[in-house]
Amino acid sequence: MSSSDAKSINNDFTQKDILSLSQFDRTSLETLFDKTTSIKGEKDLRKLLQILEGRVVTLLFYEPSSRTRGSFDAAVQRLGGRTLIINVEASSVAKGETLEDTIKTFENYSDAIVIRHSELGAAAKAAKVSNIPIFNAGDGIGEHPTQALLDMFTIFEKKKSLSGLVGLVAGDLKHGRTVHSLLKGLSLFENNVIYLLSPDQLRLDPELKSQLEEKGLKLFEIESVTDIPKDTDFWYWTRVQKERFSSEVEYKKVNNKFVVNNELLSLYAGPKTIIMHPLPRVGEIATEVDKDPRAVYLTDQMKNGMYVRMALLSLILSPV
Ligand code: CP
Repeated sequence: MSSSDAKSINNDFTQKDILSLSQFDRTSLETLFDKTTSIKGEKDLRKLLQILEGRVVTLLFYEPSSRTRGSFDAAVQRLGGRTLIINVEASSVAKGETLEDTIKTFENYSDAIVIRHSELGAAAKAAKVSNIPIFNAGDGIGEHPTQALLDMFTIFEKKKSLSGLVGLVAGDLKHGRTVHSLLKGLSLFENNVIYLLSPDQLRLDPELKSQLEEKGLKLFEIESVTDIPKDTDFWYWTRVQKERFSSEVEYKKVNNKFVVNNELLSLYAGPKTIIMHPLPRVGEIATEVDKDPRAVYLTDQMKNGMYVRMALLSLILSPV
C-alpha cells in the first residue's frame, strides 16, 4: 500500500488516517485551518480539556524527533488526553517484532497512533493493519504531512492566501519529506510558482516533479543563489539529511552548499519574504538570522505545529 492509496478526507476527518497530503482537497484544508484558527484564538486553552478526555494516543517513534513528538504530546495533553510514549529501543522491536505486530499491540491500548519510521511507506503499512487512526509523523524519504499542514497554515496566516504565491524551496529536495508534502499541498491552489534550489544530487524526484506540474504547480529548478528572484513570499530552507546518505564522504560533498545568512537576505529576500525551516537545522541557517522579523522558524511556524495537531486530533478523534 502506498500513501497515495490513503483515503481522501473529503471534508470528513472522523477516524481517518493522516498519511499523505494527497488525501486533502481545498475544502478539507479550509476546515482544518478554521479549526486551527479557532483553537489558536482560544485565550484559555484549559477550556479545551474535555475534547480528548479519557483518550490515549500512542507516540511510536523509530527515528529521533523533538518538534513532531513534542508538539503531538503537547497537543494531546492540551486537549485533555494522555500519551503512551514508546521507547522503541527498549520495546520488543529490539527483539525483532514486526511493524504490523507492534501496531496491533498498541491498537489495544490507545485511540490513535502517531508513527515515525525510516522506511518509505511505513505509516501506510501501519494503517493497513490498524483499526485506529494512524498519523504519519514522517516515513523515510516519503512524506511528513502534519509538518506540511503546519507550514501551509503558517503561510496562510502570513500571506492571507495559498494561491498566487512565489516561493523558494531549498536544500535536500530528494530526501526532504517535508518538502514533498508541502509541494503536494501547494499544488492544490492556483498560480503558485516555486523555485527549487538544491545541489544537483539532491534535486526533487523527477516523477514527483512531473506529477506536481501536471496539477498546475509551476516549478523552476535553479542552481545558484544568484538565481533567486527578488521579493518572494517565502523561503523554505531544509537540512541535508545526513542519515539518508550511504557515506559521510557523499554527505560532505553537498552539505551546506546553500546557507542563509544576513548577507543573503539583504541581497535576495524582500521586506515581506518569510523565512521558514521545518528544523532541525545543522548550519544551513546562520543564527544571526533568528532575530530578523521575517524569520518564523523558531516562533510562529514551530508554535503552529501544536495548534494544527490539536485541530487534527480533535477533528479525527472528537468530531462534533
Ligand atoms: N520538523 C520536524 O519534523 O522536526 P523533528 O524531527 O524535531 O520532529
